[in-house]
Amino acid sequence: MKQNRSGFSFRSLHLSLRFVLPLACALALLAYAAVPLFDGLTLRWFSRDLDMRSQLISSTLQEPLADLVQKGERLRINVLIQRATQDERLLAVGVCDTNNKLLYRSSLFPKAITCTSHEADAKDPLHLIRLPQGPVHVVTSPLKYEGISIGSLMLIHDMSYVERRSADTRKYIIILFVVLGVVISLITVLVAHLSWQGWMEGVRAMMRGEGILRPFSQPASAELQPLVGEMRTLLRNLESERRHADDMTTTWNPAALRALLNKQLTGDQVLVVSNREPYIHIRTDQGVIVHRPASGLVTAVEPVMRACSGTWIAHGSGSADRETVNRHDRVGVPPAKPEYNLRRIWLTKEEEQGYYYGFANEGLWPLCHNAHVRPIFRSSDWEWYQKINQRFSDAVVREAHGDDPVVLVQDYHFALLPAMIRERLPKATIITFWHIPWPNPESFGICPWREELLQGMLGSTILGFHTPFHCKNFLETTDRYLETRIEHESSTIFHGGQLTMVEDYPISIQWPPAWQGTLPPVAQTRVEILAELNLPADHLLGLGVDRLDYTKGIPERFMAVERMLEQHPELVRRFSFVQIAAPSRSALEEYQSFETRVHALTERINQRFSRDGVPAIILKAEHHEPDQVNRYYRASNVCMVTSLHDGMNLVAKEYVAARDDEQGVLVLSQFTGAANELHEALIVNPYHVEQTAEALYQGLVMPEYEQQERMRSMRAQVKDFNVYRWAGRMLLDAARVRQRERLAARIGKLP
Ligand code: G6P
Repeated sequence: MKQNRSGFSFRSLHLSLRFVLPLACALALLAYAAVPLFDGLTLRWFSRDLDMRSQLISSTLQEPLADLVQKGERLRINVLIQRATQDERLLAVGVCDTNNKLLYRSSLFPKAITCTSHEADAKDPLHLIRLPQGPVHVVTSPLKYEGISIGSLMLIHDMSYVERRSADTRKYIIILFVVLGVVISLITVLVAHLSWQGWMEGVRAMMRGEGILRPFSQPASAELQPLVGEMRTLLRNLESERRHADDMTTTWNPAALRALLNKQLTGDQVLVVSNREPYIHIRTDQGVIVHRPASGLVTAVEPVMRACSGTWIAHGSGSADRETVNRHDRVGVPPAKPEYNLRRIWLTKEEEQGYYYGFANEGLWPLCHNAHVRPIFRSSDWEWYQKINQRFSDAVVREAHGDDPVVLVQDYHFALLPAMIRERLPKATIITFWHIPWPNPESFGICPWREELLQGMLGSTILGFHTPFHCKNFLETTDRYLETRIEHESSTIFHGGQLTMVEDYPISIQWPPAWQGTLPPVAQTRVEILAELNLPADHLLGLGVDRLDYTKGIPERFMAVERMLEQHPELVRRFSFVQIAAPSRSALEEYQSFETRVHALTERINQRFSRDGVPAIILKAEHHEPDQVNRYYRASNVCMVTSLHDGMNLVAKEYVAARDDEQGVLVLSQFTGAANELHEALIVNPYHVEQTAEALYQGLVMPEYEQQERMRSMRAQVKDFNVYRWAGRMLLDAARVRQRERLAARIGKLP
């Protein structure tokens, strides 16, 4: 059966009929009982009325009639009683003598009535006598002459009009009940219809998780209010049980992720959008080479894309990018064995300057990191940021095969993108992941376009951060600057008709690592690396791997190295610190001066502590491919991650993954997301130089068994909480949101 959602619902008619039929029966019964009751009542009223009238007439006739009867004036008596019956209701008048003999009677006096008739009905308080022609009301009053009884006067009133009126009344009562029944039925149908709609909206909202996992799109109807709490708890419990079960039973790997996609998101296309592309084609003198950029985002998302085989849309920033794409700007990657499509978006220098260097990296990057670099906001950069977000949104729409793809929007370059995509593809599942920290509301509030950015992000179905703390900051920021309905308990936001689930999904790296089982043993790599660095075979190595970025705490790390060598001079010439520093955003002044500072610091420390050609710090400020970095991970005794603020920091996890020998020590900043997971690292405050120096020293002298225990535990953590789980959890949540939405829609469409 069809249902018209905006019009009348047959379901509500059915529902209503269940109320209407019993209601009609009840009304009929009521009418059946009420009619005789009403009849009796009206009869009593009329009879009392006639009693009074009879009394009035008899007292009027009393004197003249007694006088005439006494005188025996028959003719005049007849005239008098005949005239009295001219009253339309007085049917007849009779005069009886003391022996109850009818002496005089008016013309219509019923033959069946005698002077004693009334005695038979004396007990009837209504003074009613039923005759074949209808009921009559008979009242007899004594007739006296000078105080002596000379007979009685009988007044007979026609009561058939009462019957007529009673019949009329009965008719009206029945009509009244019928009308009442119809009106009540209509009201019931209407109320039931509206309630059903409201109820269904409520249930639909609950199925979508609104008000349960997030606020209701419309407040639940009054009838549903008591249910909301119950449903909320129930669904939350089911949700967390299911999540827990999924988490515990699933071994997350590419196959599990693929299976999840096929099972839970059958037929759904996966599109990734990021600024940085996973493979950069660069023209060199030797021809075109492929670069893997130093980017946590790329490290994490690339294995996911290989498992999902979708399309990755990103800025084509390489000098040979244009010549390697097809006419649709697509290229299959990884280049050696393509598994998914990379769709490149082209930007002019001016566009890149405004959107990427300007708004994203001079504005949002320092805004979100507590690294004490002042954000710069320019209106012109904002304009570019909006335009480029729009361009990527257009690309998403063009790349989408259907109207409901799963779109994974990556990072702070695309805060506006979710709402833009939502506008064009309302049914899309948009998962936005913010790879960097989210600041507190006060810090974020200095951005002149804070509302627009928040609104843009709230186009997402799911909004992911690394830590619960960043989620909390985001909820509070939204609460401060936008008119939204927020359910903190379930971490959900309802804004402008759109529901967004804000969750923490700690990002990770692929496990098992790509090189697993293919590399030479650690000892061999160590020998090779030390030889490459011209260092003795028993040399102690510290390692840092970062982009040259002021958030990474590179100077603080170097100062800790310096302090450690000051405190432990026996390690001078026995220890060197290798810093791999990938040039990054070098067009920006802040980054240029940072690089200069790092070089100067390296030089200063090396001047103090280099001995016999053995440098204290070896700064390798150039691009390294992942396999090269991995060799350094395996060769070093200690890896230092000292970010001043970092969403997650995947270097920490990569280091752990690289150490299949279960040796090596990780010194980790407490201001990274990774510190929430890697508890066996030596956790430090990088602003505290002495503490960091001590941790470095402890790492260098740590016994092997302790290294092994710590490393084994951290490896187990990274193995279980790998990037497939990160993606899997988001996709599972997305699948559930979609299923919930579909189910809710279906409930509304059932006949
Ligand atoms: C951080 C950001 C990424 C970015 C990476 C490298 O990890 O979260 O979005 O890709 O830095 O920065 P770049 O500007 O070179 O892409």
